[in-house]
Amino acid sequence: MAKKITVPRGTTDILPPEISLWQNIESTARKILDIYNYKEIRTPIFEEVGLFKRSLGQTTEVVNKQLLELASNKEEGFALRPEGTASIVRSYIENSIDRKESLTKFCYIGPMFRGERPQKGRLRQFHQIGAEVIGQDCGSPYIDAEVIALSVNLLKEFGLDNFKLKLNTLGSAQDREKFAAILREQLKPHRSKLSEDSQKRLDQNVFRILDSKDREDQKIIGQLEIGYDHLSTDSREYFGKVKGALDGLGVKYELSPGLVRGLDYYTHTVFEISDTSLGSQDALGAGGRYNSLVKDLGGAQVDAIGFALGIERILLALSDKKTLEQLTLNCYIIALDEVALEKGFELLNQLRAEGISADMSFKLSSMKSLMRSANKSQARYVLILGEEEIKGNVVTLKNFESGQQVQVNLSNIKELAETIKNKRV
Ligand code: HAM
Repeated sequence: MAKKITVPRGTTDILPPEISLWQNIESTARKILDIYNYKEIRTPIFEEVGLFKRSLGQTTEVVNKQLLELASNKEEGFALRPEGTASIVRSYIENSIDRKESLTKFCYIGPMFRGERPQKGRLRQFHQIGAEVIGQDCGSPYIDAEVIALSVNLLKEFGLDNFKLKLNTLGSAQDREKFAAILREQLKPHRSKLSEDSQKRLDQNVFRILDSKDREDQKIIGQLEIGYDHLSTDSREYFGKVKGALDGLGVKYELSPGLVRGLDYYTHTVFEISDTSLGSQDALGAGGRYNSLVKDLGGAQVDAIGFALGIERILLALSDKKTLEQLTLNCYIIALDEVALEKGFELLNQLRAEGISADMSFKLSSMKSLMRSANKSQARYVLILGEEEIKGNVVTLKNFESGQQVQVNLSNIKELAETIKNKRV
């Protein structure tokens, strides 16, 4: 037998029975993003490797260990995008958007790629719903509050309510440096006890130690005194206003001084939303400010902030709750003889023309077996056409859920369509 080819590790097929859940999430997201006036942007799914190195940081896990690079004979080639922010900033600069608008609100929905070790909630191809606000007018604490509230409201609209919002500030780029120095100072005496990776991080990128999953590292991290001493008065005041605006909106948060995020571009406000039902991969989404990134990538000095939510994790968190209604087929037609089959095919297309989702069995079989097919289709109504119905120019309309059954005249398709649309039976 020929060797079977399987889906690549860490990726999945999204099969038709699940697709309505995805479409529901995506259409709800688009509706909410539209209400908030965020406009969609689509960038390529691969970019020059240098873009990710310069934005996410050379020493981050995502760049160092997880970039999925495309084979190339150039010294520095292309990689599948591990996230969306870097590409959007690249596009913002490349299209000189800063010269046209003082504030731009972007949103995106699409696949991202990271060569991680796959486990529940951690994939190599996963999907994000994201938003980014960029521009010279972006430096307002109300925008931080809007972006955070938007991510929380999206999750609520999807039907989730059991999540926690962790909030922190890293301060300005200078404050960040001070914070790094404070951490280094506190960690140095423990150098020999740190994991090999974290010993390297101590010199290269001390914030990454705070994300370490190593047990010994975590013990040491637990003893650190992490506060807000590194913050300038301005940064402190700014963060105060962000919290005030969130309080005003009634958005609940938990202050988390150790939250530094796994990517290097963040400054000031950072946040993460987690769901306790998810186990170790519990982050539903995360985001923060990145006020230096546009400039670091060759653009103007403009502020920016954004977030991304993971669709697979949202679906995992929803899977116990079943709050999203499955989109069901409206009608399934079954015909009991050749003449009825011909009439059924005509009816099928008339119903579809009326905007009613419909399908039918094209096979002639026993009533029992046809009803089994109708049942399997999960349609709300089964429409039965037999000898008697053809003679009377009617169709038997049966509501699967209630069992209620009526005969409807076929001379007025609009009337039949209204009955189905308004669920009169
Ligand atoms: P991130 O924290 O790396 O941030 O990812 C955001 C979300 O994407 C995570 O909270 C998680 O739900 C989902 N996610 C990440 N990796 C995986 C994976 N391997 N499998 C399944 N889901 C995953 C960013 O990507 C930033 N770009 C967010 C941002 C936008 N910050 C500012 N603007």
